[in-house]
Amino acid sequence: MASATQSAAAELVCFNEACRARYAITEVVYNCPKCGGLIETAYGNAPAKPDTLKKIFRERRMSNAPIDQSGVWRYRELLPFLEDYSHVVTLREGNTPLLDGPIAAKYGGLDRITFKHQGFNPTGSFKDNGMTCGTAQAVRLGMRRVACVSTGNTSASMAAYAAAAGLEALIFLPHGNISFGKLAQALEYGAKTLQVEANFDQILALVRVLAERLGIYLLNSMNPFRIEGQKSIMFEMLDQRDWRVPDWVVLPGGNLGNTSAFGKALREALNAGLIDRLPRIAVIQAEGSAPFYDFWSRGGTGTFPAVCNPETLATAIRIGDPVSWPKALHEVRTSKGVVEKVTEQEIADAKAQIGLCGIGCEPASAATLAGIRKLTASGVIDRAADVVAVLTGNLLKDSDYIYKYHTGQLEAPGGVKIESRFGNKPIVVPNDAEKIAALLR
Ligand code: F0G
Repeated sequence: MASATQSAAAELVCFNEACRARYAITEVVYNCPKCGGLIETAYGNAPAKPDTLKKIFRERRMSNAPIDQSGVWRYRELLPFLEDYSHVVTLREGNTPLLDGPIAAKYGGLDRITFKHQGFNPTGSFKDNGMTCGTAQAVRLGMRRVACVSTGNTSASMAAYAAAAGLEALIFLPHGNISFGKLAQALEYGAKTLQVEANFDQILALVRVLAERLGIYLLNSMNPFRIEGQKSIMFEMLDQRDWRVPDWVVLPGGNLGNTSAFGKALREALNAGLIDRLPRIAVIQAEGSAPFYDFWSRGGTGTFPAVCNPETLATAIRIGDPVSWPKALHEVRTSKGVVEKVTEQEIADAKAQIGLCGIGCEPASAATLAGIRKLTASGVIDRAADVVAVLTGNLLKDSDYIYKYHTGQLEAPGGVKIESRFGNKPIVVPNDAEKIAALLR
């Protein structure tokens, strides 16, 4: 299963065009020591011929080998940074379905929509696709401790993979601003969990200092191996569609790691001849945490307009200073994509519509459909377009939000009441068959 030749040409490269400094694949770098730019993995060897690759990927679906069953490592020729796969820890991440959502399509102004539902992952979010790779690299480097700051999903995922790999997990969370479902996961998977009185961006700065000082491996999305793993979300989506390219891929934007990963995956798939064109990428942000939208609206030039106090009930994307914006900007531009923002009410209503398809998702994921509704109304996305929206997290991640929405108790930051437009209140009834029958008649 090892493929020594594959990773021989893998290296880390500075993403900054003006620098492009190169580092060994086994060096611990998150930002370029020369210029401070983001780091990415690059591969010298071209993968095999496209038809050969497609055949290998398809055949692995019938295999019982754990790394073939993984929806990430199944595509390992397209993320060949390891020399030896024997230390890979897989929880059979990926393998997430493509689902039709006719009610959501109608609500979004489309004839049809396809959801790529990452909430079907082992810990309930897309983070698992990246975390299996980040953990594999941590093990390869002989690291004992891993750390992350998180709005909840990264920490849940890291805790699980660290536990499975026998690593010590250190988690830093913004106190009071993550859902209980996600916090509960970190605790159950045995991670040391520190709640800090600060927001995500502030804690990330803190954790970078601590990681350096204590020699802890950082598994936030500026870790290039996380990005490699998240590329597989696009590879799997294309494989499931027999490599038919959609017109649009729509996703929520927070720290912008996923946008970076999707763009890189699609460009690499094009270069490898697996697809013949790029889909357009649409990134959707929550109005109170929308620095990337603001930047994009100004043409993507000048200083990045970080938001000091980001706010949104979609806590997963409550990020004011996204680390990966330079990569994300490149990917949205290359794909001729767009960036949009949506209100709290729009997210809540779109989420209820996704629920009515029997699908459901967490609030951040519903920003996709809310954004699509705006983009079809403004004519950016055509009604007949072939659209894949990526639902990033599972419905059960944030059940408190759901209950409040359906019972008319949801309030946006600042106290503005969210209308329960598609609310579905539980009905309290007496223990009386007659009365219940009358009610249901
Ligand atoms: N959707 C969900 C459910 C998320 O958890 C996140 C990010 C995003 C979307 C945004 O993705 O950061 O790659 O742009 N959650 C991170 C966390 C920040 O800590 O779990 P992004």
